Amino acid sequence: MTVYNQKEVDQRRTFGIISHPDAGKTTLTEKLLLYGGAIQLAGAVKARKAARHATSDWMAVEKERGISVTTSVMKFQYQGYEVNLLDTPGHQDFSEDTYRVLTAVDSALMVIDSAKGVEPQTEKLMEICRMRNTPIITFINKLDRDGRPPLDLLSDIEDRLQIECTPLSWPLGAGKLFKGVYSLYDKKLKLFTPGQEKRHVEEIMIADLADERFAQLVGEQADEFREEIELLEGAANPFDLDDYRRASQTPVFFDSAVNNFGVKELLEAFVKIAPPPGNRPAVSRPVSPYEAPFSGFVFKIQANMDPAHRDRIAFMRICSGKFTRGMKVLHHRIGKTINLSKATVFMAQDRAHVEEAFPGDIIGLHNHGTIKIGDTFSEKEPLKFTGVPNFAPEHFRRVILNNPMKTKQLQKDLTQLAEEGAIQVFRPRTSNAYILGAVGVLQFDITMARLQDEYGVDAGCEGVDLTVARWVNCQDPKQLAAFEKACTNNLATDAQGHLAFLARSEWNLDYEMKQWPDIEFEKSKEHH
Ligand code: G4P
Repeated sequence: MTVYNQKEVDQRRTFGIISHPDAGKTTLTEKLLLYGGAIQLAGAVKARKAARHATSDWMAVEKERGISVTTSVMKFQYQGYEVNLLDTPGHQDFSEDTYRVLTAVDSALMVIDSAKGVEPQTEKLMEICRMRNTPIITFINKLDRDGRPPLDLLSDIEDRLQIECTPLSWPLGAGKLFKGVYSLYDKKLKLFTPGQEKRHVEEIMIADLADERFAQLVGEQADEFREEIELLEGAANPFDLDDYRRASQTPVFFDSAVNNFGVKELLEAFVKIAPPPGNRPAVSRPVSPYEAPFSGFVFKIQANMDPAHRDRIAFMRICSGKFTRGMKVLHHRIGKTINLSKATVFMAQDRAHVEEAFPGDIIGLHNHGTIKIGDTFSEKEPLKFTGVPNFAPEHFRRVILNNPMKTKQLQKDLTQLAEEGAIQVFRPRTSNAYILGAVGVLQFDITMARLQDEYGVDAGCEGVDLTVARWVNCQDPKQLAAFEKACTNNLATDAQGHLAFLARSEWNLDYEMKQWPDIEFEKSKEHH
């Protein structure tokens, strides 16, 4: 096969950050953007976060949407690499989008608070990364505070996230006794000065820890540190690029983002070892990023915050070929050709009118509801990329329609919002209710407000006794029919007509899974 755009593909790094709220994602993002020259001022990203958290009412949601279009993709250059950082919304705006963004990245950075270890949201996001074997670099943050012992943290990650850890740096003490980090791969020591944020910290070559100089530099902690390293050398696995890229091993760094300590090392290692865009699976065949014809898929849709403009922005990841402004591509699902003259190439800085983009880059398409999550665009070949699924919702509400005359309208509008990925909609087998399902609760507020503002439907929603949903599949029609009869009270149909099992608790789900071993209960569902 002839290789096209090799240089452009090889220098691209498209990634997301996975973390539990407050572990330090915003702080790290900001430092990375500073190194990349994408922002000039510390505090710029933080200010956006503060604005998001001011209130959680609808106006704030509106504002936040406006802001997050520009923060959804942050592009910067570093050491000749083109880095695309895709925002994974957290806190209140945690949603299915957070999961779906991870289907569009080539690797991820995992931020862990050294005092807390693995937290629930980290676990959830890791589960999504595992679906695609996304390579992960781990950043253990806040070493300047008292935290858990480093070895403890590594075994926490290994046990709970089921991934082998390989430390590439090791901390010297923590909290008040935090002296710095020692790089295990290039044998360099970096000393930490509390209260000083430096962009360049001097690195001291210490090839042998028995060296007297090491003791002079770190004082009485030297012996303890030597022992720890000895222990580690016996126990830890050496870094293996293939294992990392296969996602069976995660390299670990110990740092303090807020002090800008260790961020540069992380970024340098990241651009070197993180994978460039790879093959992307489609129904008919895998598509290589080095192929000449353009192709891409949509992983996120965002409504315009300006109510006067009902258009939406579809975020498309380029998988092969080259985007050029004004090019024509096929929108396969609806069988139409569209012109990409108005596409936006996302950049962190306002560099207007980017005319070209390559695999790994993200472009934004304005549309009026003609684009759905998972849609594929290509120059000619009728491709359909896979791996951009719906994810099982974890929160549920029942819709209360204040004007019963509008039932038909409600159904139509909810279907559209479901196609856009804003919310999931279920119709129970045994009632006429509309059950909404979401990964984050803010999705309900957004849905209700959009129903009112964009569609003129006056509705509210109330709590419902459900916590679990799974899509149901079965190869054996007889078994399926028996299951449908027995579990009809738990069954519902989603907006695309797919059968779903809704339950009050994990316990109910486990019980039925044991009763019905031939029935598949799926946590994610591909778009068709
Ligand atoms: P998030 O996006 O993952 O939610 O976390 P964020 O970066 O906002 O960090 C959460 C809090 O942790 C912030 O404190 C931040 O300053 C602090 N933090 C981040 N990295 C470090 C670190 O390396 N060491 C220490 N000691 N703290 C760190 P905050 O009080 O919520 O905000 P702020 O007033 O400090 O801005």
